[in-house]
Amino acid sequence: MVQWTSTSHIVDIDIQEQNPPQAGLLSIASEPILKTIVDSIADGILILDAAGYVLYLNQQGANILDLSQTQVMGKHITTIVDFRPVILDVLENGQGYLEKEFIIHSPSRGKLHFMKSAIVLRDRHARMMGVIDTFRLVDSMHTMVARITGAKAKFSFNDIIGRDPAFIDAVSFSRIAAQSTANVLIEGESGTGKEMFAHAIHHASMRSSGPLIIVNCASLPRSLIESELFGYESGSFTGARKEGFPGKFEQANGGTIFLDEIAELPLDMQSKLLRVLQDHTFSRIGGTKNITVDTRVIAATNKNLLAEIRNTNFREDLYYRLNVLCIHTPSLRERLDDIPLLVNYFVQKNALNHSRTIPEIDPFVLDILKEYPWPGNIRELENVIERAIIISQSDQLTIDQLPQHIVNSFRHVPVPETANPSDTNIRNLEQMEKHEIRRTLKEVEGNISLCSKLLGISRNTLYRKMKQYAL
Ligand SMILES: Nc1ncnc2c1ncn2[C@@H]1O[C@H](COP(=O)(O)OP(=O)(O)OP(=O)(O)O)[C@@H](O)[C@H]1O
Ligand SMILES: [Mg+2]
Repeated sequence: MVQWTSTSHIVDIDIQEQNPPQAGLLSIASEPILKTIVDSIADGILILDAAGYVLYLNQQGANILDLSQTQVMGKHITTIVDFRPVILDVLENGQGYLEKEFIIHSPSRGKLHFMKSAIVLRDRHARMMGVIDTFRLVDSMHTMVARITGAKAKFSFNDIIGRDPAFIDAVSFSRIAAQSTANVLIEGESGTGKEMFAHAIHHASMRSSGPLIIVNCASLPRSLIESELFGYESGSFTGARKEGFPGKFEQANGGTIFLDEIAELPLDMQSKLLRVLQDHTFSRIGGTKNITVDTRVIAATNKNLLAEIRNTNFREDLYYRLNVLCIHTPSLRERLDDIPLLVNYFVQKNALNHSRTIPEIDPFVLDILKEYPWPGNIRELENVIERAIIISQSDQLTIDQLPQHIVNSFRHVPVPETANPSDTNIRNLEQMEKHEIRRTLKEVEGNISLCSKLLGISRNTLYRKMKQYAL
């Protein structure tokens, strides 16, 4: 008969004396039903005799400790792990405990964070017969926060499609960047996959179990940027939360912060960011103490930052701090040979999402798509394919499902007279782009949001292009 008695943090079990005494303990673990139960629960269970020899280790415990369940039987606990087992203290002082946290340093596996309970087993004369040790590995706080808040990478390098040599170079370089902790700057036009690259780098990095916090510097109201990024102490301004608020940099501690559209960051915030990049410290608004964070920074922009520096919109010192590793995501115009691959990929993905059969692609469709200048890059291509799948009534994808402006652009480009062929190409592209933006603006009666959506470019890019073409 096993009788449990429990007082706050000490749990003792009184086992009727057996001969030899360990037989009682062994039988607990060897009963088939009990064995099935202990092997199926999520915690590791280790049963030791009073001298510290292993009587039983369940499968989960073997997995957690990276040991073989059978090979440890009968061995002394100190000979099977490469750290000092905390259970030795229980064997020495006879004090059990419930749900206690331990951080253990293993030479082979580094820092291990355990949640443990130790139950002391005694006979009727209160002599210790052994210990039941239950344990599980605890995620670090930031892993837990990342899991709860969903601040995880949504894409990995496997999701990034492309065979073009310049594109492959960008992917290879990003894989290398993922292995370091240096700051990364991703430059590229709108819709070229900058955010996907940031996700993939975080996902492939040592910090992947930590949070990935995304901040779009262009969408934050100017007055809120500082508190969003750096947080505030209680009562620091009207409307502030009583308990204060940790900013994105603190939330990203142990992980990565992705600062999208970095060129839109106001100059005073650029100075504060520079300090974080230099010594990893900052203070919350209204706070006096310096907060140190271990956060990797990935920034992205579709602007030419050197031009922004010349126009005194961007700090040069910040540019060089961010630009330790620079990745350029090529525009779709520069990798038109990837169009068939990308079209196939998006056709399959969207047919699946919209529960359609995968249509056959008319080769003429690919000819047309390969000649279009794609101002909205891959995002625009994906939108075009998704639209085609939705409106398609057959299992063929033909030019009837392509937007009219794309079909119209095919081989109807007016060629201005000029001696230099590369100038001609650029001018043609610009003309097509200008024409397309003007046409779409007219179609949506000047609605910028809708127009940017239809073109597959961000509102900022649309504004910039409208200014460029004086529209
Ligand atoms: N190489 C790629 N393979 C597959 N899909 C891609 C690729 N690049 C981009 N995409 C698709 O295009 C979409 C837009 O990419 P993303 O948001 O990363 O672009 P961006 O450069 O950050 O654009 P913006 O500057 O407008 O924010 C993604 O959600 C993804 O669906
Ligand atoms: Mg983006």
